[in-house]
Amino acid sequence: MDRINTFIDSLPRQLERDHIVPIVSIVAATTLLFSTYKIFSSRNDQGLKKIPVPRGGYPYFGHMFSVGTEPSRKFAEWHKESGPILKIRMGIQTWVLIADPEIAHKVFVTNGAHSGVGFSPPEKHWRDARGAIISIISPKYVDTNYMIPIKREAADLAERLIAYSKKEGGGIDPTIHLHLNSMNIIYMSSFGKRFENVEDEEFRSVSAVILKQLSLAGPEHDMASFFPILAIVEYFTGKTKKMNDFIKNERDPLFKRLIAEALRQEETNLVQELEKYDFDEKAKLVIMSDLIAAGTDTISVTLSWVFAIMCNYPQVQKKAAAEIDHFVSLYHRLPLFSERNSLPYCVSMLKECMRFRSTTAFGIPHQANQDIIVDNYLIPKGAAIFSCMESMHMNPNVYDEPERFCAERFGDNLQLMDTAAKGKLEGRDHYNFGWGRRMCAGIYMAEAELFVSFVNVLSRCSIEPVVDSTGKEHFPNIEQANNSGVTLTPASYKVNFVERTPNL
Ligand code: HEM
Repeated sequence: MDRINTFIDSLPRQLERDHIVPIVSIVAATTLLFSTYKIFSSRNDQGLKKIPVPRGGYPYFGHMFSVGTEPSRKFAEWHKESGPILKIRMGIQTWVLIADPEIAHKVFVTNGAHSGVGFSPPEKHWRDARGAIISIISPKYVDTNYMIPIKREAADLAERLIAYSKKEGGGIDPTIHLHLNSMNIIYMSSFGKRFENVEDEEFRSVSAVILKQLSLAGPEHDMASFFPILAIVEYFTGKTKKMNDFIKNERDPLFKRLIAEALRQEETNLVQELEKYDFDEKAKLVIMSDLIAAGTDTISVTLSWVFAIMCNYPQVQKKAAAEIDHFVSLYHRLPLFSERNSLPYCVSMLKECMRFRSTTAFGIPHQANQDIIVDNYLIPKGAAIFSCMESMHMNPNVYDEPERFCAERFGDNLQLMDTAAKGKLEGRDHYNFGWGRRMCAGIYMAEAELFVSFVNVLSRCSIEPVVDSTGKEHFPNIEQANNSGVTLTPASYKVNFVERTPNL
């Protein structure tokens, strides 16, 4: 790493190091390797339209140093200038950026079904793993097995947020509590155990392993895939060795232990379900560690946006709380996820939060396994294809006044997010869950967690800004989104979760 840093530091001044980090981390999340240089130089594109290339490319480096520290914002800027489909070069890689859901649908769904657009080739291993995962987080399975844990964790979350707000005074950052909430659900489903509180040592060490896994999969690793010449640097840094050591000494022992414990549990869990498939130990370790990561961060980041938005829109918050209170006054209990239709305002509002502030910048980028022609543009085999979520969610051809937060926006589209994502393009609410064959496998579980957590928290408390000693209110900044690798997180904030008397 030090040698890479030295190398990066030695680049000409305009190629600032800061500009390298975030874009590399995006690719780190994908672990895509490309060899498209030849495609650029030799293809005969006669008769096809050229995909617009934004300004700012350098020889050999391409657009790598024009992307800046907020790639999704830069891409959005380029899309505004040059249209909904763009091609950039990142070292030797070709990236195709898409900001139009219709084009994305044609690429990932229409072509994906026939010509193989995917994160990796459709090997049997991936198909089996996806099949196994879907069977253990399918709507039916979630309804039967996970609703009770989801409900219990949501109640605990509300309790904790109120207690810590009281205890700490001056507001709390909900991140770690949200992490515990979502981790407990997937952890309980996977391994049959949960953590009591955010101070729990095992919770902190599992979180640390997951974060280390993400960071080691990260930045500097991919320099060699952008610039093959750097492969030699990587060799000397021993980065691959570090990753292997981490897997061997930290990740694998932890997950081996958790899997062994889960197999001994009396109650059914995901690990036991995986036994029905023919996976070797290595595959099981990868599936379980990936699943824990996929099911934890996405949910906590989404809820973190929801709470930050609620604090900034107190009228929306009041209306949502009133809808929950009304249900409680009728039935003397909180609504179940299966009763979400009784809370149309909350359902629409949660969808709008996800549209208004995307959970990820690009989902998981895909790779074209063969040439794809879409709208008479050629996407060359080997190109990385990025769905630019923020640009899609702010596309005025798709959403009226996209910059405006409008809680009622999806009042006419209250279908489950899972149904909307898998149905016709016209019926989609937002695009956070991706596209086609590699679409998120946990959409139903995700919406159940989001809905139940939100309803529990809002039924118990109001989310209020921190007030300083001069009486000034400080609201979470929802204008800035930080690129944390795969997810887009709000800038760190504090709010107060103030216990309220339900307005019954
Ligand atoms: C708000 C919450 C979530 C968001 C925004 C989200 C988003 C995504 C996205 C964008 C992808 C890649 C799709 C593509 O390649 O086009 C994905 C894949 C996946 N997600 Fe989620 N996800 C969420 C929650 C969950 C949860 C709770 C689970 C499981 C418990 C989960 C499990 C998975 C799995 C297993 C995949 C890989 C699917 C495959 O490669 O075939 N996700 N998710």
